[in-house]
Amino acid sequence: MSSYDARFRVWRGDAGGGDLADFSVEVNDGEVVLDIIHRIQATQASDLAVRWNCKAGKCGSCSAEINGRPRLMCMTRMSVFDREDVITVTPLRAFPVVRDLVTDVGFNYTKAREIPAFVPPSDLGPGEYRMQQEDVDRSQEFRKCIECFLCQDTCHVVRDHEENKTAFAGPRFLMRVAELDMHPLDAASSSGLDRKRTAQEDHGLGYCNITKCCTEVCPEGIHITDNALIPLKERAVDRKYDPVVWLGDRIRRR
Ligand code: SF4
Ligand code: F3S
Ligand code: FES
Repeated sequence: MSSYDARFRVWRGDAGGGDLADFSVEVNDGEVVLDIIHRIQATQASDLAVRWNCKAGKCGSCSAEINGRPRLMCMTRMSVFDREDVITVTPLRAFPVVRDLVTDVGFNYTKAREIPAFVPPSDLGPGEYRMQQEDVDRSQEFRKCIECFLCQDTCHVVRDHEENKTAFAGPRFLMRVAELDMHPLDAASSSGLDRKRTAQEDHGLGYCNITKCCTEVCPEGIHITDNALIPLKERAVDRKYDPVVWLGDRIRRR
């Protein structure tokens, strides 16, 4: 087993401000960035705040920015870096810092609550639901989401524009709207809820200009842009220019 000392720069501070702190720390074969952060905590900075839980890429807690890229610390192997590299670990930039590497991701829970849940069909009971396998497969991809919020952090719509946060749900939650809109048994429309319209008017679908940065950072490899956002945009546009829908909207506005 070989080991070496790596140079780490870790952001330390709180909502009032902070700075990068330098550490030289032992690295052993097979370790990931979260192991090194834990070693710093155990040997040099016992009050370093870091959020983690599963250490297996499944809880979505250990999200941070490593050399400026949003990543899961527990899934970033030290072997991807050169031994001479300085590795900089900072908190997610799009969310307010609580302390050190821990951010307040409450924005995401607020957005989750704004999306109306699946509406069960009124004429079917539990156990009577039947779906085509292709419909099951399509939404299965979206259900792999571990809610790490790396996609939310990297999307420039909120990363660079705090003021957009009220109007834009972000890729993770637009994907949720797309999943529900694709669901063949969702009976939202029977209660007057048009998910395509709400995607545009309430969740800011139009702010997404398909940069695909969200897809690039997703640790689950979900094709957020190609399989959720673009199809949702296409369906929303179809709805907008459907002459029957247009006429209905005009009559309703009178
Ligand atoms: Fe994380 Fe991917 Fe889910 Fe976004 S879609 S929260 S990047 S798992
Ligand atoms: Fe943002 Fe993803 Fe669209 S990064 S702009 S939500 S494609
Ligand atoms: Fe659970 Fe990293 S600790 S995803």
